[in-house]
Amino acid sequence: MEFSSSTILSFLALLFLSIPFSTSNPTQDSFYQCLATNSNLSVPLYPAFYTPNISSFTSLLQSTAQNLRYLLPSVPKPELIFTPLLESHVQSAVICSKQLNIHLRVRSGGHDYEGLSYVSQIESPFIIVDLSKLRSISVDIADNSAWASAGATIGELYYRIAEKSKIHGFPAGLCTSLGIGGHITGGAYGSMMRKYGLGADNVLDARIVDANGNILDRQSMGEDLFWAIRGGGGASFGIILSWKVRLVPVPETVTVFTVPKTLEQGGTKILYRWQQVADKLDENLFIRVVISVADGSTKGQKTISTAYNALFLGGVDRLLQVMNQSFPELGLQSKDCVELSWLKSVLYIAGYPSSVPPEALLQGKSSFKNYFKAKSDFVREPIPETGLEGIWKRLLEEDSPLMVWNPYGGMMSKISESEIPFPHRNGTIFKIQYLSLWGEADKDLAPKHIDWIRKLYNYMASYASTFPREAYVNYRDLDLGINKNGSSNFIQASAWGARYFKNNFNRLVRIKTQVDPDNFFRHEQSIPTLPTSTKRRGRKSHHRTKKSHG
Ligand SMILES: Cc1cc2nc3c(=O)[nH]c(=O)nc-3n(C[C@H](O)[C@H](O)[C@H](O)COP(=O)(O)OP(=O)(O)OC[C@H]3O[C@@H](n4cnc5c(N)ncnc54)[C@H](O)[C@@H]3O)c2cc1C
Ligand SMILES: *[C@@H]1O[C@H](CO)[C@@H](O)[C@H](O)[C@H]1NC(C)=O
Ligand SMILES: *[C@@H]1O[C@H](CO)[C@@H](O)[C@H](O)[C@H]1NC(C)=O
Ligand SMILES: *[C@@H]1O[C@H](CO)[C@@H](O)[C@H](O)[C@H]1NC(C)=O
Ligand SMILES: *[C@@H]1O[C@H](CO)[C@@H](O)[C@H](O)[C@H]1NC(C)=O
Ligand SMILES: *[C@@H]1O[C@H](CO)[C@@H](O)[C@H](O)[C@H]1NC(C)=O
Repeated sequence: MEFSSSTILSFLALLFLSIPFSTSNPTQDSFYQCLATNSNLSVPLYPAFYTPNISSFTSLLQSTAQNLRYLLPSVPKPELIFTPLLESHVQSAVICSKQLNIHLRVRSGGHDYEGLSYVSQIESPFIIVDLSKLRSISVDIADNSAWASAGATIGELYYRIAEKSKIHGFPAGLCTSLGIGGHITGGAYGSMMRKYGLGADNVLDARIVDANGNILDRQSMGEDLFWAIRGGGGASFGIILSWKVRLVPVPETVTVFTVPKTLEQGGTKILYRWQQVADKLDENLFIRVVISVADGSTKGQKTISTAYNALFLGGVDRLLQVMNQSFPELGLQSKDCVELSWLKSVLYIAGYPSSVPPEALLQGKSSFKNYFKAKSDFVREPIPETGLEGIWKRLLEEDSPLMVWNPYGGMMSKISESEIPFPHRNGTIFKIQYLSLWGEADKDLAPKHIDWIRKLYNYMASYASTFPREAYVNYRDLDLGINKNGSSNFIQASAWGARYFKNNFNRLVRIKTQVDPDNFFRHEQSIPTLPTSTKRRGRKSHHRTKKSHG
């Protein structure tokens, strides 16, 4: 550890900093003292340290938390939030949390569906290391790459790329407030996935802080760990400081459209047809379907709206040819289409009105916060019309349901299931996301909405993938299983592990056992270590397996 060279500095720190900062809470005190001992003091620690009695504590806790369900008063709160200002602060946080045995959660963009980056339901006390102040981005067009720090949003990365070049982009999430740190750890899909794959498929290098507080890059972490962090889910292997990503070419002009169809406009038949073509279309075309309940044509009556929301990497003339050939049933016309720059298409797909300038992406704020519960499925056979009608019936019973069907195929089919931990590849037609959203007035009615979504999910069992019934780890779903506090969770975890990672789960467990045998990085669904009896074998093979590939 480099810290020993600054021992004298640290002593001074203890003298000066321990006096002004004293709370009656032992966790806060000891953590602060430990940080002061371990940190580079040319940057003061005090502004990075938030205890509950500081007025900005609550606003910081809430700042990026996406799921309001996990901010309710009844939900456990952290003892403190630490917002590192330097990478070495992240190292100190790991060292101190380990030394003092204080459970640590890490947050980048706060979009975790089950609030795992800001709530622990299984361990107390806990603290949050919030990376929102580490958000530098450097784009190197000549090298076709960019380094982006974990606390930046994906929208900031898109903006910084477009600032330097109109013909470069990056294929990651649709929602622009996603944190780069957490998003890419689970895969990161977006509207260019059929052409270029996932964000995680386009990672070149990474810097992480491991369970010993060391900073590693691709070379020093080795190919096993580098494999695991690209899709194996957040906060199991280390803290990502930054990702180096490969930029991809985009045309100067792309085309977007949104075409809604209600049931009365033949929505069911068109959606049945979409299922037959969505994964086989030209790779430049991504058409997702956003399904919601809408007002019907007669007053007081409800219907289902299926909105076809698309990005085409090309101009409108070519798009119309492609649609005429492959999906004429939608009846797309040129008046439905808008030609714009790739960056503007990012704002369009994220749902911003066209009057909002791209600079909105730099606010790093999310425009969408709700109480919600979500689940996911992967579909390998088109759902018949009778099956669709059963979905409509259930959607019409819920207050604010949403489904998003997102097409696969193209590049997603060409990448092998074991290339990175994200396994949902060839043979997948589309992914379904189920959501129920509710507001403040309904905040005590969570059980009702959660019950509704579980029933819909049960109904869908016969249409979804089986053995395993796959799920997207970035759509974290604690219904699939929860690690127990403090025990080896290998057996129970293999159930949800197979859903998120299929056969890659075993390799993730092996790597986890090698790099974090004491299970320092853990949460309700972190990758477990092997039970102790089998651990020794795993550790022995550490050096030998470093260079192996997936
Ligand atoms: C509104 C909304 C839209 C979404 N749209 C998409 C989409 O288009 N495409 C898509 O693929 N996904 C999408 N997601 C899912 C999203 O990718 C995941 O929720 C992702 O984990 C968010 O990352 P984050 O940094 O914002 O979240 P956080 O809550 O900060 O982190 C998520 C998880 O990763 C861990 N983590 C955070 N930072 C780090 C780090 N630096 N190192 C290691 N672990 C870390 C956390 O502890 C937590 O377990 C969406 C989510 C929401 C809420
Ligand atoms: C927070 O509370 C502690 C006592 O628990 C006190 O010593 C400290 O000064 C308080 N800090 C602020 C900013 O109020
Ligand atoms: C401490 O941080 C400063 C400012 O970021 C940096 O210039 C300096 O090199 C760091 N010193 C050590 C020992 O890491
Ligand atoms: C979890 O276990 C730790 C010790 O391993 C204990 O201190 C903590 O209170 C436990 N948390 C819960 C919620 O049971
Ligand atoms: C659509 O394709 C048909 C042939 O399949 C062709 O006759 C027709 O002109 C095309 N329409 C457009 C608008 O391209
Ligand atoms: C995908 O799987 C199908 C069989 O299900 C096979 O015919 C096809 O060649 C596969 N495609 C790729 C790119 O591997």
